Amino acid sequence: MSPRRATPRPVRYAALGFVTASLAASAAAADRLSVFSPVSAPADASLRVATLVLLVTAGIFAVVTALLVYGVVRFRRRPDDDGSEPPQVYGSDQIELAWTVVPVLIVVVLCLVTARTIYDVQAAVMPAGAIEATVVGHQWWWEIRYPELGIATANELHVPVSDRAGAGTVALSLESADVAHSFWVPRLAGKTDLIPNRHNRMWIAPREPGVYLGQCAEYCGTQHAHMLLRVVAESPEDYARWVAAQQKPAVADPGASAGRRVFETTACINCHSVRGTVATGRFGPDLTHLMSRSTLAASDVALDRASLRAWIVDPDHVKPGARMPAMKLDDRDVDLLVDYLVTLR
Ligand code: CUA
Repeated sequence: MSPRRATPRPVRYAALGFVTASLAASAAAADRLSVFSPVSAPADASLRVATLVLLVTAGIFAVVTALLVYGVVRFRRRPDDDGSEPPQVYGSDQIELAWTVVPVLIVVVLCLVTARTIYDVQAAVMPAGAIEATVVGHQWWWEIRYPELGIATANELHVPVSDRAGAGTVALSLESADVAHSFWVPRLAGKTDLIPNRHNRMWIAPREPGVYLGQCAEYCGTQHAHMLLRVVAESPEDYARWVAAQQKPAVADPGASAGRRVFETTACINCHSVRGTVATGRFGPDLTHLMSRSTLAASDVALDRASLRAWIVDPDHVKPGARMPAMKLDDRDVDLLVDYLVTLR
């Protein structure tokens, strides 16, 4: 090997380090967004089909690779070759039939299995007492409503852990307020699109408590990548407590009345709702129980006083292209406004 072509060692080690770090990072991410660790029936069904397809394609890969290696080794050029062409064979009905019929059969079987799985998930009858939730995709956040409970929240869907009998199954109605989005919580179910002027259905039934991360899976504009969704599966008791807390009207803390005045006299109320106040906007997230959520703006930013203030001062800085405008309030008004918003627990 010439010295020029040799890869310098530090570069090779750096590359190895990069690969190792990438694998570790993807394993950590896979833990949160993995189709390989399902905890809900529709995701189990998807994994069964995916495993079958992987096994069949791995088999095809092995057969093709083996034939290729055999051909290369068995018919390689040898020192005593006389340089003449080997006999040329044209047309073999058996071989042509074999390589047409076998692949067609494989494709037909995979199609049937896939169609059957989709049908089984879509046609599943919801058990009596299933929880109804409506999820509306917006650029770039998720509106979540529980029509029977009178609750509106955003980006964090709370559900009870479901038992074997199906209690706690959540029937989702998926809609969009603007463009096409896609609801995808890999550990709970396959992807289902949210399409303007359509009502799509999906359902989830998480068996284990936990926070399951989801991601919009249909490109929907600048902040498509920051359209995260969290499904919080909790014990039926915790879920009931959460529902009761969400059903309460907004806290009216007299200590924050100056901030509330700022809120109610700026354009905030055109887009946001706080139940029990003049704010009834529907364009942005409902803020009645804002601080009961753990994240800000459907992103990975933890929701606290500091991040909330930074967001209000300049939403574009936190999430470039965000639909919420900077309100250009002076520092004092921003502080008062944040004082008020953090009371909305
Ligand atoms: Cu919403 Cu991508």
